[in-house]
Amino acid sequence: MADTFQRIGVVGSGLMGSGITEVCARAGLDVVVVEASDEAAAHGRRRLEQSFSTGVRRQKLTQEEADVALEAIRYSTDYEELSDRQLVVEAITEDAAVKIGCFRTLDRVVSAEDAIFASNTSSIPIMKLATVTGRPEQVIGLHFFNPVPVLKLVELVTSLMTSVDTSERAAGFVTEQLGKRVIRSQDRAGFVVNALLIPYLLSAVRMIESGFATRDDIDAGMVEGCAHPMGPLALCDLIGLDTLQAVAESLYEEFKEPLYSSPPLLSRMVEAGLLGRKTGRGFYEYSKPAG
Ligand code: NAI
Repeated sequence: MADTFQRIGVVGSGLMGSGITEVCARAGLDVVVVEASDEAAAHGRRRLEQSFSTGVRRQKLTQEEADVALEAIRYSTDYEELSDRQLVVEAITEDAAVKIGCFRTLDRVVSAEDAIFASNTSSIPIMKLATVTGRPEQVIGLHFFNPVPVLKLVELVTSLMTSVDTSERAAGFVTEQLGKRVIRSQDRAGFVVNALLIPYLLSAVRMIESGFATRDDIDAGMVEGCAHPMGPLALCDLIGLDTLQAVAESLYEEFKEPLYSSPPLLSRMVEAGLLGRKTGRGFYEYSKPAG
């Protein structure tokens, strides 16, 4: 094994940050999670505990393993707590200005000279984040997939400045320490998977918007006709409509292709707070917001 990481930082404990924290802790790593507020940190912790108890119920891990993993996770609202980390994965809101602020702070607080800063962004160029640090060769994209404990794929995204050493160490971390599969992408908005997936999801939204077909028929079409595990509108709800819109906007900004533009229905749903599972309602209704 080329290199091993023991002290990991995760910034953000939403949907993705919690999943990344979970897989790192389950791999035996020590994790510090930094959130924007105490409330968000408490919510992240509850989400993680729920996920661990589901894992125990489904016999994916024992109660003892879950307890050990939970012990290895510390929550904070203070970025200084990341000072001794060897690798930090940023998983905060998909907003370039907010992420740039985060990378500036990471560069200031993390002391290890060879630490790697990774972003889980779905669409923001890694170069934009790398250039605000004093160590752009150590900045990389590690794009995990939701739900992180279940899906094996990670897209590894190198900017023009990322060093080969950083890219190889990050790839080793993902494959050897987390047991996941890496595919590599150039630093283009959407990388490989979202560049293909987002136009498909937006087409489903346009279909329902124009009255072309019903929600249930659109989803059943792709589940029954193409053997997809879920239909596109259910997938929009799982991703979160705000995240979907943000990714679409980044793709549109990069390529100026109409197929990446956000349909009005999506914008109205986001404005209404109908964000999908996380708020209890999107294209479907959920009995309670999924933690
Ligand atoms: P989310 O909305 O569930 O969580 C974002 C978290 O970031 C919130 O808990 C928020 O309090 C926290 N946060 C915001 N600003 C912060 C700051 N300055 N410092 C610390 N914490 C801060 O979002 P989600 O879905 O987890 O997305 C996070 C990132 O992962 C985004 O870049 C998104 O594009 C990417 N992503 C999302 C996927 C999805 O299916 N939702 C899949 C793959 C990547």
